[in-house]
Amino acid sequence: MLEKFKVKTFGCQMNVYDSQKISEIFFDLGYKNTFIDQEADFYVINTCHIRNKAKEKLYSELGKIYKIKKNRNKKNRNTIVIVAGCVAQAEGEEIFKRAPFVDIVVGSQSYQKLPHLIKKIKNKIKNKKFVELDFEPKSKFDHLPKNKYIHEVSSYLTIQEGCNKFCKFCVVPYTRGPEYSRSVKEILNEAELLVNNGTKEIILLGQNVNAYHGQDLNNKECNLGKLIYILAKIKGLKRIRYMTAHPKDMHDDLYKAHKNVEKLMPFLHLPIQSGSNKILKAMNRNYSVEEYLKIINKVKEFRKDIVFSSDFIVGYPGETKEDFQKTLDLIDKVKYVQSFSFIYSPRPGTTAYNLKDNLKESEKKRRLSVLQNKLRFYQENFNKNFVKKSLNVLFSNSINEKNYQSLGYSQYMQLVRINNKKDMQGKIEDIKIKKSFYKSLEAVSLN
Ligand code: SAH
Ligand code: SF4
Ligand code: F3S
Repeated sequence: MLEKFKVKTFGCQMNVYDSQKISEIFFDLGYKNTFIDQEADFYVINTCHIRNKAKEKLYSELGKIYKIKKNRNKKNRNTIVIVAGCVAQAEGEEIFKRAPFVDIVVGSQSYQKLPHLIKKIKNKIKNKKFVELDFEPKSKFDHLPKNKYIHEVSSYLTIQEGCNKFCKFCVVPYTRGPEYSRSVKEILNEAELLVNNGTKEIILLGQNVNAYHGQDLNNKECNLGKLIYILAKIKGLKRIRYMTAHPKDMHDDLYKAHKNVEKLMPFLHLPIQSGSNKILKAMNRNYSVEEYLKIINKVKEFRKDIVFSSDFIVGYPGETKEDFQKTLDLIDKVKYVQSFSFIYSPRPGTTAYNLKDNLKESEKKRRLSVLQNKLRFYQENFNKNFVKKSLNVLFSNSINEKNYQSLGYSQYMQLVRINNKKDMQGKIEDIKIKKSFYKSLEAVSLN
């Protein structure tokens, strides 16, 4: 008898959202969730293809599952292995070649078909494998279950998916397909349901979330700025965030929302990738450093206390010492409070894949470490500023072992921890900060 499922997630927030939807599908079918590998009758891996390392995580996970599947087989228990997400989309049937014990490969835009695929597997003709890789975003969102089982204080909500920008290094246009925006009605329904189930904060998701252009309630085109005004009217919703924004898609309604919508948090993730115009051009990012800085200054005009985070790629083909220095100079100008930074990873199928590499691995690592030290300096400094001051924290998680320990996020997206013997889950409070660290803050105990 098949009873329990486990979903293991790699990759970005959108994969976290998709994994929740996959879990909802299994719950709807009457299965139970387990966190124990050996117990899982269905083992789903939701994968990421963005860098080679991310992709290889799938195969090391599969190595582990293969052993578990063999052991369970000895006890006459079957394990259905499902590979979902961006590697599934990119590699399709190839996955069976490297891991023949996988049963289902399902892409990031077709996992709504899982109930059907699971039914087929259960009535299975021996050794039959299934692959679904269609891009059907409308049908996907139409057929996904509504949030019934997973209730969170802070919830992701995908409003836009896919990308038409084709930065030369990036697989997303191939793994997530062309840009698609959900309608305002659909988003509003999902948001209201989340809030009725206890959500206080919604994080709107999209690969280019500010390129959102869905149909509004009067069948006109809506943008992200306008959508935020609409969502802010939901009573009980306390906070709104969005990610990932692209510099090219910032628009007037969005700037205005930062000024007028109090629920919109003063934190913006706006990836630049490089501080050199030459490299930005080579990457096909379609903006210059000067334009990017103008955008940063403009957002600040609308919301004075807003802070920024970014993604960086070091060692892109053609990056000289001077180009790299320009990235460092840019960081000194913006003083990011958070960041993600990576060594460039050539991805098969992208235009940059065949570009000549001009740097030794050791030099790439050196640059990454210099960059990360600088980013760390600004993040630590930012956090330090709040010692003995107050931050507004939404607590999303309380663990009660001996005493309650609660975790939450400040308006500026800093992780804040408090041990105050109280269940803080779902509470929003102004909390005094006692200690600061590189990536978190500790609040003063209220008792
Ligand atoms: N849509 C977002 C980024 C999505 S991908 C944007 O355009 O800003 C998330 C991050 O992964 C990117 O910002 C980039 O920094 C990194 N990334 C993407 N492809 C990469 C590659 N081939 N090598 C290294 N980092 C990469
Ligand atoms: Fe990838 Fe560029 Fe699209 Fe971002 S904008 S998802 S980096 S292609
Ligand atoms: Fe990875 Fe796919 Fe997200 S490649 S970063 S899981 S869109």
